[in-house]
Amino acid sequence: MVDTPDTNADFWKSDKQVAHWVETAEDRERWRAGQRRLMADLLPYGGEEEFTFLDLGAGTGAAACAVLDRYRGASALLADFSPQMMEQGTQALAGFKGRYTYVEFDLSSREWPDAIPRGLGAVISSLSVHHLPDDRKQELFAEILDHLAPGGWYLNYDPVAADDPVIEAAWQRANDRRDPVEAAKRAHRSDEERQRYENHVRYIIPLAPQLEFMQKARFEAIDVYWKHLDYVIYGGRRPAHPSA
Ligand SMILES: C[S@@+](CC[C@H](N)C(=O)[O-])C[C@H]1O[C@@H](n2cnc3c(N)ncnc32)[C@H](O)[C@@H]1O
Repeated sequence: MVDTPDTNADFWKSDKQVAHWVETAEDRERWRAGQRRLMADLLPYGGEEEFTFLDLGAGTGAAACAVLDRYRGASALLADFSPQMMEQGTQALAGFKGRYTYVEFDLSSREWPDAIPRGLGAVISSLSVHHLPDDRKQELFAEILDHLAPGGWYLNYDPVAADDPVIEAAWQRANDRRDPVEAAKRAHRSDEERQRYENHVRYIIPLAPQLEFMQKARFEAIDVYWKHLDYVIYGGRRPAHPSA
């Protein structure tokens, strides 16, 4: 965590930062393809079954794409607060025209837009929840449960922090060996790279409290469905039958 002022909204509403994100997306997406597919595969639907899912902090729709691709009956609500990311997404999602709608939504607000109904078939988030302070993460999980249909799943793909410096060093060692260029950059960050890094890590927390937030929100079947060093996919579902 870093304690410099929160730059998140300015960051994601900046033409320059969004252009950088889009330019560098292809490399990252090569590594993430398996995780994207897994998020889709974890949902309990048949290929043609109709359902609506919500992608929170959808950006250009990379996570939603995998779900739309996997389930021909799926329709997506893509929530984001960055006009630039939504504009880029509209181009990236041209092949899914008619099956998705962007909704402007600032995840730091408790006011959900009317365009997001209750009874959703699934909610996903990818690389966005870590931009929220902890109390808001916790509230958001409860709000997500409230918007899911009974039996509906929530899955989150996000970075996590280590709560042990030895573990953190092991993660960094393995990541650096996979990506020596990124490792070299870390030692000589420009001001812009440092700001990007700080915006990324500001509210990243360990996995355990996030699973606790899920439990407190009363999800069931909570599990870490995938993990590689500092990246995880965790989730759970709204109980299919409310407890008596
Ligand atoms: C790292 S990108 C990830 C985009 C996409 N989910 C993906 O997996 O490629 C983070 C996204 O979260 C959005 N975001 C960050 N904070 C947000 C907030 N408070 N409200 C709504 N969207 C937010 C950003 O605009 C951006 O599109």
